[in-house]
Amino acid sequence: MPGELTVIVLAAGGGTRMKSKTMKVLHPVAGRTMVGHVLATVQQVRPRRIVAVVGHQRDQVGPHIQELVPDVLLAVQEEQRGTGHAVRVAMEAVLAAGEQPEGTVLVAYADTPLLEADALRRFAEEHEAAQRAVSILSGVVADPHGYGRVVRNADGEVEAIVEEKDATEEQRAVREINSGILAFDAAFLREVLPRLSDDNAKGELYLTDTVHLAREAGLHVGAHAIDDVEQTEGVNDRAQLARTGRVMNERILARWMDAGVTVMDPATTWVDADVVLNPDVTLLPGVQLLGATLVAEDAVIGPDCTLKDCEIGEGARVTRTHGELAVIGPGAKVGPFAYLRPGTTLGADGKIGTFVETKNAVIGPGAKVPHLSYVGDAEIGEGSNIGAGTIFANYDGVAKSRTTVGRHAKTGANNTFVAPVEIGDGAGTAGGTVVRRDVPPGALAVSGGPQRNLARWALSKRAGTSQAEAAAAALDGVEEST
Ligand code: UD1
Ligand code: CA
Repeated sequence: MPGELTVIVLAAGGGTRMKSKTMKVLHPVAGRTMVGHVLATVQQVRPRRIVAVVGHQRDQVGPHIQELVPDVLLAVQEEQRGTGHAVRVAMEAVLAAGEQPEGTVLVAYADTPLLEADALRRFAEEHEAAQRAVSILSGVVADPHGYGRVVRNADGEVEAIVEEKDATEEQRAVREINSGILAFDAAFLREVLPRLSDDNAKGELYLTDTVHLAREAGLHVGAHAIDDVEQTEGVNDRAQLARTGRVMNERILARWMDAGVTVMDPATTWVDADVVLNPDVTLLPGVQLLGATLVAEDAVIGPDCTLKDCEIGEGARVTRTHGELAVIGPGAKVGPFAYLRPGTTLGADGKIGTFVETKNAVIGPGAKVPHLSYVGDAEIGEGSNIGAGTIFANYDGVAKSRTTVGRHAKTGANNTFVAPVEIGDGAGTAGGTVVRRDVPPGALAVSGGPQRNLARWALSKRAGTSQAEAAAAALDGVEEST
């Protein structure tokens, strides 16, 4: 573990290339904001203090960061005058809080969500072991365009970081770049920050100028090249956002496969960072598991499901389903083609079948809603079966009301339950019943008058049609009855 550590996360820039109302670092990757990923990584390195520099849209970025890291120190950079200025503002905030940073100060950007704690920890440890004033986490890339280049002397020692806009032709050919992650000796950083100048192509205070200033003072500087340059890739536009999202997803899936989850088609399976899966879960193609979804052992999800903040029980089977804030019990079956809205709870071994929409519905253990139904604001007791095409009419145009179905009730096809209404334990309803009044336990509800058949109706009212012809052919020589 590194010694005393302060981490400064820069999150003040606007991110104009995203062309978004939403501040860049608040865009999600795998269900977490970019800055959320960076803060999670930084926290794993256990720094004594995390300082976040905010500027653009700080009324949104600041509270978000504080929610994720309650003891964060927020530093406000009113005007974005460069990375050096941002770090100066951060250090001033630390001093203003009555703290004196010792040991190492790490600087990271809030738009590099792929950075991992191991890499950061190793970088900090190497920096300390080498007793450097500044260390650069560098990377060798195929296309260094846009990055600051790590310039070395004939002996291979790091001399400076030169920004793209300030670089000579020869320097631009260098493929070793500054990832942006720098480690400083705290005392050196405090001393050097006031000496930065904005006499450069962008007219900004460059944090990277600290490297040649350290060299000039005869201090140690060095670069630590990361093997996996992907980790330091920043997100500046939507194309990079998509690419980063895919890399993050691949990582998450690799982790779950390693933990015993079957992912049949990683290319079409998306799992958010905060999802929890268990061994022997199977994810079929086209599955998105979002938010805080939790899937227990032996459950099979997919193909083609989107589940957000859902809890899926052991051995459950969820097929072609869209669900949000739903709890599915062990051994239960859902879909194909089900829509589970918030507040849906399905008991153990229950069933929500094909073309069924549920909302605020508690469906008991072993209870079944197999086909073509809407179940809103309802409670269905253990072992009950709801007939095909049943509508729980929960809304009278003004208010919503609840329907309760007891245990082991069997309701007929094509029913309408006009809430508020209660169907008792062991009760039944006939096909096509409109239930407006409570049905006592064990009773059978029948609504509507007896059926009437109007004889030869098609022959007179649909004369000349195929319907009338078919009727005439069937009736030919047959005694009619009514
Ligand atoms: C910076 C580095 C460059 C490096 C590259 C890696 C400098 C001078 N250059 O260049 O060597 O290769 O990152 O991506 O450091 N920020 C603030 N306040 C500011 C300016 C920036 O908070 O006043 C934040 C931005 O929000 C961003 C980060 O610092 O997260 C980097 O700033 P940016 O202007 O994008 O630096 P680059 O020109 O990319
Ligand atoms: Ca940048």
